[in-house]
Amino acid sequence: MRSLLPWITLCLLPTLGFGAIYEDASQLPHNEYDFVVIGGGTAGNVIANRLTEIPDVSVLVLEAGVSNEGILTIEVPAFGYMLPGTQVDWNYTVTVIGNRTSPYARGFVLGGSSCLNGMVYTRGSAEDWDRYAEITGDQGWSWDSIQHYIRKNERFSPPADHHNTSGEFDPSVHGFHGIHGVSLNGFRHEMEDFAINASKEEGSFVLDYNAGWGQSTIANGTRSSSSTTYLGPQFINRPNLDVLLHAHVTRIISNNSTDNLTFHSVEFSQDAGESFLTVNATKEIVLSGGTIGTAQILMNSGVGDTDALSQLGIEPLLHLPSVGQNLTDQPIVVYPFIANTNDTDDIIHANDTLREELLHQWNETHTGPLVDPDILLFGWFRLPDNSSIYETQKDPSAGPNTAQIEWVFVNGAFVAPPDDVHNFISVSPQIVSPASRGSITLNTSNPFDHPIIDLNLLSSDFDLFALRQGLRDVERFMKSPIFDGFIQGPGIPINSTTPDDQVDDYIRSTTLGTFHVAGTAAMSAKDADWGVLNPDLKLKGAEGIRVVDASIFPVIPAAHTQAPTYIVAERAADLIKATWNLAV
Ligand SMILES: Cc1cc2nc3c(=O)[nH]c(=O)nc-3n(C[C@H](O)[C@H](O)[C@H](O)COP(=O)(O)OP(=O)(O)OC[C@H]3O[C@@H](n4cnc5c(N)ncnc54)[C@H](O)[C@@H]3O)c2cc1C
Ligand SMILES: *[C@@H]1O[C@H](CO)[C@@H](O)[C@H](O)[C@H]1NC(C)=O
Ligand SMILES: *[C@@H]1O[C@H](CO)[C@@H](O)[C@H](O)[C@H]1NC(C)=O
Ligand SMILES: *[C@@H]1O[C@H](CO)[C@@H](O)[C@H](O)[C@H]1NC(C)=O
Ligand SMILES: *[C@@H]1O[C@H](CO)[C@@H](O)[C@H](O)[C@H]1NC(C)=O
Ligand SMILES: *[C@@H]1O[C@H](CO)[C@@H](O)[C@H](O)[C@H]1NC(C)=O
Ligand SMILES: *[C@@H]1O[C@H](CO)[C@@H](O)[C@H](O)[C@H]1NC(C)=O
Ligand SMILES: *[C@@H]1O[C@H](CO)[C@@H](O)[C@H](O)[C@H]1NC(C)=O
Ligand SMILES: *[C@@H]1O[C@H](CO)[C@@H](O)[C@H](O)[C@H]1NC(C)=O
Ligand SMILES: *[C@@H]1O[C@H](CO)[C@@H](O)[C@H](O)[C@H]1NC(C)=O
Ligand SMILES: *[C@@H]1O[C@H](CO)[C@@H](O)[C@H](O)[C@H]1NC(C)=O
Ligand SMILES: *[C@@H]1O[C@H](CO)[C@@H](O)[C@H](O)[C@H]1NC(C)=O
Ligand SMILES: *[C@@H]1O[C@H](CO)[C@@H](O)[C@H](O)[C@H]1NC(C)=O
Repeated sequence: MRSLLPWITLCLLPTLGFGAIYEDASQLPHNEYDFVVIGGGTAGNVIANRLTEIPDVSVLVLEAGVSNEGILTIEVPAFGYMLPGTQVDWNYTVTVIGNRTSPYARGFVLGGSSCLNGMVYTRGSAEDWDRYAEITGDQGWSWDSIQHYIRKNERFSPPADHHNTSGEFDPSVHGFHGIHGVSLNGFRHEMEDFAINASKEEGSFVLDYNAGWGQSTIANGTRSSSSTTYLGPQFINRPNLDVLLHAHVTRIISNNSTDNLTFHSVEFSQDAGESFLTVNATKEIVLSGGTIGTAQILMNSGVGDTDALSQLGIEPLLHLPSVGQNLTDQPIVVYPFIANTNDTDDIIHANDTLREELLHQWNETHTGPLVDPDILLFGWFRLPDNSSIYETQKDPSAGPNTAQIEWVFVNGAFVAPPDDVHNFISVSPQIVSPASRGSITLNTSNPFDHPIIDLNLLSSDFDLFALRQGLRDVERFMKSPIFDGFIQGPGIPINSTTPDDQVDDYIRSTTLGTFHVAGTAAMSAKDADWGVLNPDLKLKGAEGIRVVDASIFPVIPAAHTQAPTYIVAERAADLIKATWNLAV
């Protein structure tokens, strides 16, 4: 009998409010919180962490997805490619261009898309942030102002192999004391030396991110997600923080007042709509459902284009026609090259025995090729100033020091299916400052149906032109003599003799989104006639609700979007604290 006691204690502790992650709403110790955060994703967990620094503030996080605990494919950086389409994915389908569709991953797990993403760490350009300050009229969004929030987020850490990183990054522009682990690659591949040498030869190598070594949200050879960092062991036990999993939020509920619309309550279901529960927020609801989830929840709640909502039978509450509009993703064309090497991801993906061996090594020591993400190196480029496209199109980027085109270097075929014969290195151009805009609209009034997501890529001629230029430039770069004997030629039917119209056809039929959707609940100036949020991220025309996630960007940053999302969330936490006079 006595020996049973410790066992029982161990099993019960998590449900007694010690580890504050719950599976069932009946376990929740309260039905009212100061703040209810909708979505325990990249941004939501930052808010949960920063607000619960104040002991007398209570926070509940409602996350639709599953626990991230013990999921090896999330932890092992090189296994990230296996995650889309599994139990941690919402499994959306998007329209890419015209009527061509593709699957579209979003994290359905505590940590959200930070558990599924490619871990690339990029912040956007100074001009991107200064443009946010200009659009919103709030200098707090400027590049200088957000430095503080970059430092709060970033914890630059040694690479997994502890190699000497001198000459691979510039310590003066990094934070070493934040919460979220970031590191350089921790395993050296043949491809990296070839590519770095070729870029030095071409005169285009720039230390620390114009072109150069990749930096990823990885520490000790393991993925850093918002759940492992912001909800890490030193935070999750705070008695004022509760997290409920499997809680699909359907609506936010208000007082229905026309002159003082105030949201105070959140409706959710744990059984796909058979029964509904509500929880009240006495101070604020923080909507962090991501670019897709946030737009859908707002529209389901009657916030959006009044006519469109009425047509679906949803009672409109607040006319904000920008909800769901201006959706932006960054188009890519995957450009694989046949490489004379066996040191590729393709080999690891194809060989189960090898993968098991490497996993064993990773598990024992957190070293070996599995410590790195897919994308190892980057190039950042702009069209020449005299490009013919400028005769008809404006430059969509934030300014002359902001990239328009990015090259992503992957040590394998990337998302293109590898063949049995060849190994590949891919150098894929991606438009990071696209001009095209898509949308999210509701399909039905059922909150459990997926919305209609139209990426509408390449609807602007600028994006097509820039992708073509990107392909041409990559092709030229890969002919550098440094690659002789290593690169054997393109793995796609495009080369320097292919006429422009055929290249364009190829781009249209193969381009994909890059999972960077942003912009569907944009912040704008307080008096703007468009936008969804004021510069302090509060919903225009209502009280009690703020949006904090990648949907808030009025223009997509010229970057992979996770670090910008963390930066926004860190500042948002301070904005919330200021509103409620909360100090640590
Ligand atoms: C496959 C993939 C690869 C990517 N690669 C990179 C990369 O390498 N580098 C980079 O910088 N960015 C990358 N991104 C993009 C980046 O991860 C996202 O921009 C960022 O994580 C968005 O954060 P978020 O807080 O807006 O949304 P999320 O992190 O997606 O969080 C939203 C959360 O809300 C929850 N939620 C949604 N709806 C509801 C609801 N109705 N009820 C309750 N909960 C709900 C979701 O389950 C999720 O946990 C990638 C994304 C994906 C999916
Ligand atoms: C996504 O698809 C996978 C595989 O079919 C499934 O296990 C998972 O439950 C789906 N995700 C959701 C949110 O339904
Ligand atoms: C998609 O559009 C193309 C071109 O407009 C058309 O030829 C094709 O039939 C359409 N396919 C489907 C499935 O609608
Ligand atoms: C790392 O390399 C740099 C440049 O080669 C060198 O100056 C430095 O001493 C090295 N540091 C260590 C710890 O070996
Ligand atoms: C607001 O209106 C909705 C829809 O008509 C209704 O379900 C809800 O009870 C109302 N809430 C309040 C507080 O009046
Ligand atoms: C607005 O409504 C909220 C909630 O119904 C209430 O607490 C608040 O006092 C109201 N404010 C004004 C100015 O009427
Ligand atoms: C939640 O708020 C509503 C409206 O103000 C109120 O009727 C209800 O009693 C509250 N619920 C709890 C549990 O406080
Ligand atoms: C889209 O964003 C631009 C600013 O980039 C703005 O001028 C425009 O009004 C927005 N459109 C909608 C529908 O919100
Ligand atoms: C790659 O492996 C194959 C099969 O083992 C071998 O024939 C080939 O020579 C190797 N290629 C290189 C570049 O080492
Ligand atoms: C797979 O990897 C194992 C372990 O490294 C190796 O022995 C085997 O030859 C590889 N198989 C093939 C088909 O290359
Ligand atoms: C990792 O190592 C632990 C402890 O040695 C072991 O229990 C576990 O099964 C290993 N996991 C894998 C995937 O090898
Ligand atoms: C890194 O991972 C290894 C292998 O699991 C572990 O032994 C070590 O303690 C970890 N180091 C840190 C700093 O977390
Ligand atoms: C270029 O591509 C075309 C069409 O795929 C092919 O016929 C031609 O041989 C290629 N030229 C070179 C130099 O590779």
